[in-house]
Amino acid sequence: MTEHKEEKMGRREFLGATGAAGIMIIKPQLVRGTAANSAIRLGLLGCGKRGTTVATSFANHTAARVVALGDLFPDQLDKGKHHFDGIAAKHGYAGIDPKLMFRGPRAYQALANCPDIDLVQISTPDIFHPAHLEAAVDAGKHIYCEKPVAVDVTGCKQVMRIGEKVQNRFSLDIGFQCRNAPPFAELARRVQGGALGKIACGAAYYQSTGAFYPPYPNATPLERRIRTFLWDRVISGDIILDQNIHLVDLCNWMLDAHPVKAIGTGGRGVREDPGDCWDHFDVTFTYPHDVHVNLNSFQAGKALSDVSIRLFGAKGVAELHYKGVVGIYGEEPWEWEGSIGPASPQRGHANIYSADADWPSKKAKGISPNALEQADAEKEKAFLESITSGKFHNQAAVGAEGALSTILGRQAAYNQREMTWDEVLASDQTYDPELQRIDLSEFE
Ligand SMILES: NC(=O)c1ccc[n+]([C@@H]2O[C@H](COP(=O)([O-])OP(=O)(O)OC[C@H]3O[C@@H](n4cnc5c(N)ncnc54)[C@H](O)[C@@H]3O)[C@@H](O)[C@H]2O)c1
Repeated sequence: MTEHKEEKMGRREFLGATGAAGIMIIKPQLVRGTAANSAIRLGLLGCGKRGTTVATSFANHTAARVVALGDLFPDQLDKGKHHFDGIAAKHGYAGIDPKLMFRGPRAYQALANCPDIDLVQISTPDIFHPAHLEAAVDAGKHIYCEKPVAVDVTGCKQVMRIGEKVQNRFSLDIGFQCRNAPPFAELARRVQGGALGKIACGAAYYQSTGAFYPPYPNATPLERRIRTFLWDRVISGDIILDQNIHLVDLCNWMLDAHPVKAIGTGGRGVREDPGDCWDHFDVTFTYPHDVHVNLNSFQAGKALSDVSIRLFGAKGVAELHYKGVVGIYGEEPWEWEGSIGPASPQRGHANIYSADADWPSKKAKGISPNALEQADAEKEKAFLESITSGKFHNQAAVGAEGALSTILGRQAAYNQREMTWDEVLASDQTYDPELQRIDLSEFE
């Protein structure tokens, strides 16, 4: 048996732990009142930036209505009520009932056990995801949980165990919405279909501006850490896990595998915020068949954002940008119609780039250059469809696989040595045992 086959089998077993779709189909009308033509009642946990964006998109693109809110902090809850009352008014239904607003450290339990909701959307800081996910699974609600599923190996294993409890009774999605971006889905379909031939290597870049927060002068030290969690390694998992994970997940998806080992470096060269996250990582992942993918990331300042992947194969090159070119160049060429900017490597002249002379006419036709423009809406539609059709999703294992793959890279970089998937999976790496027992009682 080749190394690749062994690896793939191992991966299937891994994903099989919680990833199987299952065969029992429950009639949609039996799923706690979520019949196909009635509204699905959504409770949002974490009324911050991402939570508000996704819940608003659910309300605008699907049959879901935001009817309940939960948050650690009252100001966030009030902001959420104001926003979602406006959305309700726009759609012509009642706003948030104040009785369905839950505040404080136990808001997640109150929301999960609230009989007036069908679906819990978990959009809290990363360290809380396993606990918040478990409460919602135990309550039997449909769940949309943000990535990463956890910040450390023990958290990922907890999520895999939680996933086993789902038992095809309801749907659980993880927020890897990039997979639902139509241009990326088409690219992945072609790569998986062999358009590149044998793949040798890849290069992924997540180059991003920094996270900026107001000073919160009256906050306690813990409150400040939670409100500015993207600066905080323990609460966010560091930039590679909180943000760059999207690229690792896309590589796992396109290569239909997870990395078997990684080596890396990185550091905190220019960031001046009071946190401890690094501002850059440089990690080389080895996938089965000795495919090497280098992930280079930078997060700081305000100067540049560009997110991309290139995969290099015997027959061609796949290129993916959040904003820019999405296409395949080589023997089986294809280019997404919204591609813009410095474009494809030309045959035989890898360093020669052409500007997109067609862009003005594409723009006139209303074509967006943002490859992710439809990602959230498509993701939410697919999730709602899984609920109303009874063909439930269970993405706990895919979420854990993406997080563990990224944690493999992070730990290799922190430890400045090569680490293997097996080593990481066998470990009980816990980011900060003290903080894992984070005491939120001051916010009661
Ligand atoms: N899928 C994506 O592309 C994407 C993009 C951005 C963020 N995210 C993820 O979304 C999550 C939230 O990120 P954000 O940028 O919205 O952060 P944010 O700080 O804007 O929002 C977090 C919210 O959670 C609340 N909160 C904090 N701790 C809580 C607790 N214990 N119980 C209840 N509420 C709590 C905060 O008060 C805040 O309202 C993170 O996991 C992040 O990784 C995903």
